[in-house]
Amino acid sequence: TKTKAEPKSSGVINGGARIVVDGDDEVLSPTDLSEMLAEGTKDSHDKAENCQFVKDFLRGRIKRELFKRGTAALYFVYAAMEEEIEKNEDHPHIAPIYFPAELHRREALARDLEYFYGEDWESQISLSAGTKPYVDRIHGVGQRDPVLLVAHSYTRYMGDLSGGQILKKVAQRALKLPSTGEGLNFYQFEGIHSQKGFKQLYRSRMNELELDAETKERIVGESNRAFSFNMMVFTELEEIGKTIKEEVQDAGLGHSHAEIMEGG
Ligand code: HEM
Repeated sequence: TKTKAEPKSSGVINGGARIVVDGDDEVLSPTDLSEMLAEGTKDSHDKAENCQFVKDFLRGRIKRELFKRGTAALYFVYAAMEEEIEKNEDHPHIAPIYFPAELHRREALARDLEYFYGEDWESQISLSAGTKPYVDRIHGVGQRDPVLLVAHSYTRYMGDLSGGQILKKVAQRALKLPSTGEGLNFYQFEGIHSQKGFKQLYRSRMNELELDAETKERIVGESNRAFSFNMMVFTELEEIGKTIKEEVQDAGLGHSHAEIMEGG
């Protein structure tokens, strides 16, 4: 259900290049990185939205234990991503998209993990087999090909800014988390007032990066890889979920489809 707004007016001719003006008078061209990414990851996005774990989550069918493990997986991913971004903060391809105060999630995830696991949360979590290839890839590109960190940032942060509020509500309801937002700091971007406005700023910063066509294509390719790594994490969680006996409730429905915990 990714609904990319259709351009309100299009086909403005400018030196042979077709330029589209979207609903907010943003001028976009198909060779802009933001457009190449949106177009070039559509199929990956469809697949991600339609995998079992994500579908269950959206229906409010999420077990607390799995949510905790998912939060831990995200912690390892964002810790790696933000470590590599910080190392490369002065790199000309990273500096324009460096927004630690607005975007970075490591601290928020740490607070969520402390809520779920307690003070000694760090000793209770570990990097899972399904998450390790993702984390290794992030460190690899950070060290050898930092321009590809643009793809990793885009894939996670733009996604979080797009679907995050829905996911927060679903989780809050399904897991009966407090309305204070405890356990859900990951979804709350305190430094961003308008998600839509920030996404536009982020897109324009990506589009101002000085990149040749081949590098832009490599970034789109890396974003598709990032989507695949996310799917591996989801698939692993789904498999673990099958082995956990825990009550699940359909959020919002008056009756429960729960599997009842054996022996109470
Ligand atoms: C954008 C929904 C899962 C990455 C969006 C948008 C929506 C959406 C509504 C906004 C599109 C727009 O602004 O025009 C969802 C739903 C998901 C989901 C319902 C299922 C829970 C994911 C996952 C990822 C992801 C798993 C990757 C880890 C992105 C990215 C964008 C996006 C990168 C920005 C696209 C762009 O404008 O370039 N998503 N999404 N999404 N989503 Fe998702």
